Amino acid sequence: MERIRERAIQLNKCIVLPEGTEERTIKAADFILKEGLARIILLGPVAEIEKLKEEFNLTNLHKAEIIDPKDHPRKSYFAEMLYEIRKSKGLGIEEAMALVEDPLYLATLLIKNGDADGEVAGARNATGNVLRPAFQIVKTQPGISVVSGAFIMIFNDNKYVKDDILVFADCAVHPDPSAAELAEIALCTAATARSIAGIEPRVAMLSFSTNGSAKHAFCDKVIEATRIAREKEPTLAIDGEMQADAAIVESVGMYKAPGSLTAGKANVLVFPSLESGNIAYKLVQRLAGAEAIGPILQGMAAPINDLSRGCSVSDIVNLVAITANQAAGNSMENNFNI
Ligand code: ACO
Repeated sequence: MERIRERAIQLNKCIVLPEGTEERTIKAADFILKEGLARIILLGPVAEIEKLKEEFNLTNLHKAEIIDPKDHPRKSYFAEMLYEIRKSKGLGIEEAMALVEDPLYLATLLIKNGDADGEVAGARNATGNVLRPAFQIVKTQPGISVVSGAFIMIFNDNKYVKDDILVFADCAVHPDPSAAELAEIALCTAATARSIAGIEPRVAMLSFSTNGSAKHAFCDKVIEATRIAREKEPTLAIDGEMQADAAIVESVGMYKAPGSLTAGKANVLVFPSLESGNIAYKLVQRLAGAEAIGPILQGMAAPINDLSRGCSVSDIVNLVAITANQAAGNSMENNFNI
């Protein structure tokens, strides 16, 4: 995180925090501005934010731009923009006028318009509510059809984990990916491993079977996903289908998948479904005591990250720094102009 925070300072990106009246968010914003980790746009009623600023003695918050979604000069502009983006899906202009008052919608429109580089939300809102406007407005990167969520799992001297880091995905977004979608998730996670975790990815495509030891449509999906991912990125170290022990235990990997590029030494674990990924990261976090950083959303055209509602101030600060890092490799190419 130190490395990520230092890079965020150099990048000086602008991150929008739609939950501007949420206590942990506003405290995190103050800290971020004090450290210079990012420029900040806070969304919410100005008077309420000013009151919280006084109450918590937040002396750096004057550096934030504050926008009240219900009352600001560019409301009609953003409503028209939203209407243009969503009219083919049946959205009317009146509905658009109402939606732009929702901070989660306005945040994504600010990104689309080039006013902000990324967004962090979710201290108060459920995952689906944060993601829906992001999917509808910011959409996916070119060549990517599915957004997924990775966790960087940090271990302390675990005998199965080289360099103390594993990257898990998808643990947060897409319930039941097809083979092609799973291949995209693998490639996005490899990119996250490089750009955010700072490791060279060795990807294991997990299943309940290694090298054909079981026959089932679920295993076939993982085999096909591995084939597609290889075809798209031939130089990537990726292998599967394999079981979790074959992926991370050297002796098991050598026995069950001899000659594999990644068995026994995988540092990126791609799960076949959201169920398995979400359950696995929570078990590893609780039972093995790993620190879980994320979910880091990948595949979006601009970085938007979702917090857990149980997050701490420092979780928000870290996720803003990660979002700024993602924004560096990921600037919105097709800013919207009307
Ligand atoms: N990637 C990209 N776009 C997507 C994705 C995706 N994974 N999923 C949906 N979309 C798009 C759709 O194409 C659609 O776009 P369109 O309106 O322009 O056609 C739009 O988003 C809405 O699609 P819906 O199918 O209506 O999506 P819905 O809103 O029902 O669900 C959601 C999307 C909320 C992300 C759903 O998949 C979900 O609930 N996932 C699980 C999230 C979750 O609860 N995770 C666990 C908790 S997180 C944690 O523990 C860390």
